[in-house]
Amino acid sequence: MSSKTEIPPSKRLLKTLNGEAMWPPPLWMMRQAGRFLPEFRAMRAQADFLTRCMTPDIATELTLQPIRRFGMDGAILFSDILILPWALGQSLEFVEGKGPVLGAIRSEQDFARLDRNRIAEITAPVLETLSRLRKVLDGPDDIGVAKGGATTLMGFTGAPFTVACYMVEGGGSREFAITRQMAFAEPALFDRIMALLTETTADYLCAQIEAGAEAVMLFDSWAGLLPPSEFRKHVIAPTRQIVQAVKAKHPSVKIIGFPRLGGMMVPEYARETGVDVVALDTSADLALMRTQVPESIGLQGNLDPIAVLAGGEAMRREALAVRNAGKGRAHVFNLGHGVLPQTPVEHVADLVKTVRETA
Ligand code: CP3
Repeated sequence: MSSKTEIPPSKRLLKTLNGEAMWPPPLWMMRQAGRFLPEFRAMRAQADFLTRCMTPDIATELTLQPIRRFGMDGAILFSDILILPWALGQSLEFVEGKGPVLGAIRSEQDFARLDRNRIAEITAPVLETLSRLRKVLDGPDDIGVAKGGATTLMGFTGAPFTVACYMVEGGGSREFAITRQMAFAEPALFDRIMALLTETTADYLCAQIEAGAEAVMLFDSWAGLLPPSEFRKHVIAPTRQIVQAVKAKHPSVKIIGFPRLGGMMVPEYARETGVDVVALDTSADLALMRTQVPESIGLQGNLDPIAVLAGGEAMRREALAVRNAGKGRAHVFNLGHGVLPQTPVEHVADLVKTVRETA
C-alpha cells in the first residue's frame, strides 16, 4: 500500500517522513512537551510524573500545549521511554533533582520477576491518550495556532539498548558502566534482557500505531557509548528487528531512529536498520550526513539546544544553517537533543518563525 497519495496536503511532517522534500521543512522539538513551558510547569503541581503519563486527560493536554502555542508540525505523545520497563513490573520513581530511579536488574532472579503479560493492560491509558489526541488533531477545529488536520501524531519508545541502560543501572548515569560491563561479562543475561525489550518494544509500537500514532520514533540516547562491534549487536540488530516486526503489521507507518552520538556508525545504522528517517544529534554535520546516508532515507535534526537557550542572532544564524543544509532533501527540522527546561519560550517562538518565514 503506497501511502503517498493518502496523506492530506496539510500534513507536512507526515509527507516529509514519507520521503518528500518540503520547503520550508516541517518542524517539531524533542522534549517540546516539557518544563520549558510555563503551562506545563503549572500542571506539575497536580500530579507526579507517572500519574501525568497515565491519566489521559492530563497526558492529552500536555501533548497539545506546544501545538497550541507554536503550531509545531508534529505532536509527540506525552509519556516516557521508561514506561515500558515499568509496565514489565520494574519499580520506577522520578525523584526531583535526581531523575528516574528503578529497581536495578542485575541477575537472572531479578530478570525472572519481569512479566510481559501485563503490558497491554498497564499501558491501556497511554493508548487511550493517543486515540483522543488523534481525534482532536484531525478534527475540524483550530488547536490554538495549529490548523485542525495539520499536525502529525507521533508515538515513541526507547530503543532496547538505551532502555536496558536504565533497567540494569537502576537510573541515569554518565557512562552506564555496569550495563556495558554486563554486556561483555554476562552476555547470556544481557541478551535475554535485550531480546525481551526488542519483542515488547515492537508490540508496544504496534499498539501505539493501532491507537492512532501516525509515525513512531525510537530513542537510542546512549547508542554512542558503544564501540562498533557492540553498536552493531545492541543498536543496529535490535532496531532492525523492531522495524521489521512493526512494518510486517503496518507497512506504511514511518519510523524515525535516533542513534544519539552514533558518529561514524550513523550511515551504517541508516543503511542496515530499515528506519525511514535518521534523527541526527548535535554533533553530526548535516551537510556531510546527506552525502553518507542513502537518498531514500530522510534526516531529522539537529540544532544545538544550547543555541535555543542563547537565542537572538546566534540562534537564528545556526537555525538557518541547519535548515538550509537540508534543502532539497526530505528533512525534518528539530533539535539535536531535547529542549532545555530553562529555555525562554520567546526563543522558541522566534525559532519557529525563523525556520518558517525567513527566505
Ligand atoms: O516532549 C516530548 O519529547 C515527549 C515526551 C518525552 C519525555 N521523555 C517526557 C519527560 C520523551 C520523548 C522522553 C524520552 C526520554 N525519556 C528519553 C530519550 C530522549 C533523551 O532525552 O535522550 C530518555 C533518556 C528518558 C528518560 C528520562 N525521563 C529521564 C532521564 C528523565 C529525568 C530527566 C529530565 O529530563 O527530567 C525523565 C523525565 C521526563 N520525561 C520529564 C519529561 C517531561 C520531566 C518530568 C518532570 O519533571 O516533569
